[in-house]
Amino acid sequence: MSEHPIISARALAKTYTAAGREIPVLQGVDFDILAGTSVSIRGESGSGKTTLLYLLSALETPTGGELFWEGEPVNGKSQDWKAARRARWMGMVFQAFYLMPELSALENVLMARRIVGQVRAQDSQRAKELLERVGLKDRMKHVSAQLSGGECQRVAVARALMNRPKILLADEPTGNLDETTGEGVMTLLLELTRQEAAALILVTHNAAHAARTDQTLFLRKGGFGK
Ligand SMILES: Nc1ncnc2c1ncn2[C@@H]1O[C@H](COP(=O)(O)OP(=O)(O)OP(=O)(O)O)[C@@H](O)[C@H]1O
Ligand SMILES: [Mg+2]
Repeated sequence: MSEHPIISARALAKTYTAAGREIPVLQGVDFDILAGTSVSIRGESGSGKTTLLYLLSALETPTGGELFWEGEPVNGKSQDWKAARRARWMGMVFQAFYLMPELSALENVLMARRIVGQVRAQDSQRAKELLERVGLKDRMKHVSAQLSGGECQRVAVARALMNRPKILLADEPTGNLDETTGEGVMTLLLELTRQEAAALILVTHNAAHAARTDQTLFLRKGGFGK
């Protein structure tokens, strides 16, 4: 196991410029997540939760501060380096699922593998096993346009875990689901990440879901401070 946190941020900042105005969203975020642990992040709408996930995943570049992945500085790395590392090492789950509607559940899960290399026999096996574990054994061949919201999100969870990532980032993964379906997806997400020994950063508005993670954080005034 790595001695470094999976992700560390020091004084991370993000100011957007829109219509000639500066919008300071994050102002000095310090953050650490250890291997195999879970953290939830809550905060009012507009407080910068999604922005923070974009920074931690290096999909957005910070306007200040430093980011480390397993102790390695991410600032200054090329887009290719970040994309390659992200594809193998990180899984992401979004509120809006982002599945390919014309592809089957199985093909959607395998897409995570296609991005990093050829699909081998053991990859198909892994994808099928993950779909079984999220309760979709009988839906593998269904195109995702024909799946329910809850089923889509379970496919997205399986896809996020396909490459055995060290960490999962989830942005309001139950935001588009009814309460009961959301509970089921949340239980799967927490159980599977634990079984796979992956760390989890969960952005949620749901206090009960947040309470199920090892550490609970609240984003306000651009940071986690008081
Ligand atoms: N690309 C952008 N350009 C300009 N402003 C942006 C951009 N993205 C986000 N913002 C602004 O940054 C602030 C934080 O947005 P963000 O999406 O991170 O909030 P959030 O905490 O995820 O909110 P929600 O709970 O509603 O999802 C908002 O005021 C938003 O308008
Ligand atoms: Mg958001």
